Amino acid sequence: MKRTEIAKVLQAPALDETITVAGWVRAFRSNRFIALNDGSGPATLQVVVDTENTPEDLLKKIKFHACLKVTGKLTASQGAGQSVELLAQEIEILGECDPEAGYMMQPKAQSMEFMRTNAHFRMRTATFSSVFRIRHAVAYAIHKFYNDRGYYYIHTPIITGSDAEGAGEMFRVTTFDPAKPPRNEDGSVDYKQDFFGKATNLTVSGQLQGEIAALALGKIYTFGPTFRAENSNTPRHLAEFWMIEPEVAFNDIIDNMDLAEEFTKYLINYCLDNYAEDLVFLDKRLAEEQNALPKEKRRTMGLIEQLRFVVDNDFARITYTEAVELLLQSKPYKKGQFEFPVEWGVDLQSEHERYLVEKEFQKPVIVRNYPKDIKAFYMRLNDDDKTVAAMDVLFPGIGEVIGGSQREERLDVLVERMHAIGIEEEELWWYLQLRKFGGTPHAGFGLGFERMVQFITGMSNIRDVIPFPRTPGSAEF
Ligand code: 4AD
Ligand code: MG
Repeated sequence: MKRTEIAKVLQAPALDETITVAGWVRAFRSNRFIALNDGSGPATLQVVVDTENTPEDLLKKIKFHACLKVTGKLTASQGAGQSVELLAQEIEILGECDPEAGYMMQPKAQSMEFMRTNAHFRMRTATFSSVFRIRHAVAYAIHKFYNDRGYYYIHTPIITGSDAEGAGEMFRVTTFDPAKPPRNEDGSVDYKQDFFGKATNLTVSGQLQGEIAALALGKIYTFGPTFRAENSNTPRHLAEFWMIEPEVAFNDIIDNMDLAEEFTKYLINYCLDNYAEDLVFLDKRLAEEQNALPKEKRRTMGLIEQLRFVVDNDFARITYTEAVELLLQSKPYKKGQFEFPVEWGVDLQSEHERYLVEKEFQKPVIVRNYPKDIKAFYMRLNDDDKTVAAMDVLFPGIGEVIGGSQREERLDVLVERMHAIGIEEEELWWYLQLRKFGGTPHAGFGLGFERMVQFITGMSNIRDVIPFPRTPGSAEF
C-alpha cells in the first residue's frame, strides 16, 4: 500500500497535497474528527470527515481502534491542539472493531490488570505504544553503545547443563514423558537417556559462557532471554526476562562500576535525545497516576526530571559494610519500620535498598564488597577473606537494576569456594580450565533489561514493559 506514515506527515507537512494514511482510530468526536495513529510515533493525525457526503453505514463503522485507510487533502488546521489536519476524500474501513461484537478495549482509562489480560490489544493504546517504542530504543542503544566501543555481541546458549547462579531456580528442559520417565535403579530419573544425554535447563544467565568469549575476544556482551523459576510475585520479577551481560578481560571491580555507570547513563540519554515525545507523554501519564496516590507515597520527581537527574549526577558508591552502618543509623531502623533485619552478613532487602537510594542518597547507588556467603560462587574473594568483589547498582523506584562482580580468576580459591557451596567440579570442568589455561582477572555484570525499561518509562509494574509477560501462574499469548 502506498501511504505516508503519520510521524512523517506531522514532521514535514506537505500542505495542500493529497496523501494516503492508514492506522487505528484513537478517538472519534462529534461524528466528524478522527484521531488516527499508525504507531510511527505517539502523535495522532486529525482526520476531518465530510459527514454530509459520507454514507451512514460507513460512519457507523468508524469506531475506537477500527483500522482505516484515508485519502485526503492535508491542510493547516483551524482548531486548537494540532497544526495540520487531513480533509478526508475517501475512507476505507480495513478492519472493523465493534464493541457489540465483543471488542473490549474502551476509549477511557482501564486498569493495568485488564490491559494485561488483553495484551493482544494493549499495544494500540497511547501508553503501551510509547512503552514499546522506548523498549525498542533501549535495545538499539545497547547494541550501539557496545558496538561503538569495540565490544562483540556473543550469543550464549538458551539450553544449558549448568546453573550459572548456583541458585537452583531453573526450568528443566526434557523430552521425557513426565508420567513415566526412565529411572535408575535407585528410582531417580535417568537423564542419560534424555535428549541431550544429561539433565538440562533454560539458562539463568549467559555469564559463564560470556567469560569464555571475553578471555579470547577481550570485550564482549550478551543480550538474550533468561529464565528463572523463582516464585516471586512482585512488580520487579519475571520468569522470562532479558539480560545484557558485558564481560571484559583485565577489568577489575572499579572498571566494572565505571562501565555500569557510563552504560546506564548512555541508555537514558539516548532515549531523552531520540524519543522525547514518547517520554513527554509517559511523564504526563505518570504524573496523573501519582496524583491518585496519597501525598506521602508520591515520587519526589517527575519522570523526565528524574532521568535528567540520574544522568547529571555521579552515582553514589559505597561498600556493603557502609550500607549496613547507614541503615543501622537510619530513622526507619530506629523506629522499627523495616520489616526485615539489618545485620552484617544478611542480604539487603528491597526496603533497605530503597531507603539508601530514595532517602539517603536520592540518586543511584552502587553497593560493593558483599559478604561472600550471600553471593554467587564465581565472585572474587577479597583480601579480608569475608567479602567478595560483587556490586549491585540500585536505582530509584526500582532497586537493583544491575548485579555484577570481578570474577575469581585463581583456580585454587575458586575450587575451594565451589566445594564449600557444594558445586561439583565436573559440572563446570570447562569453567575451571579457563582459570588453569591462560586466565586473567576479568569482570562483568548483568543489566536487567525490563527493569531498565521500567525506570525509563516510569511504569510501576515490570509486566507492563514486556509484550507478553511470563510470571507464576501466567503464560498466556
Ligand atoms: O543479579 P543477577 O542474578 O546477576 C546475574 O545473573 C549475573 N550472572 C550477571 C553477571 O554478572 N553477568 O541478575 C542480573 C540482573 C538483576 O540485577 C536484575 O536487574 C535482573 O537481572 N533480574 C531480573 N529481572 C526481572 N525478573 C527477574 N526475575 C530477575 N532476576 C534478575
Ligand atoms: Mg542480583
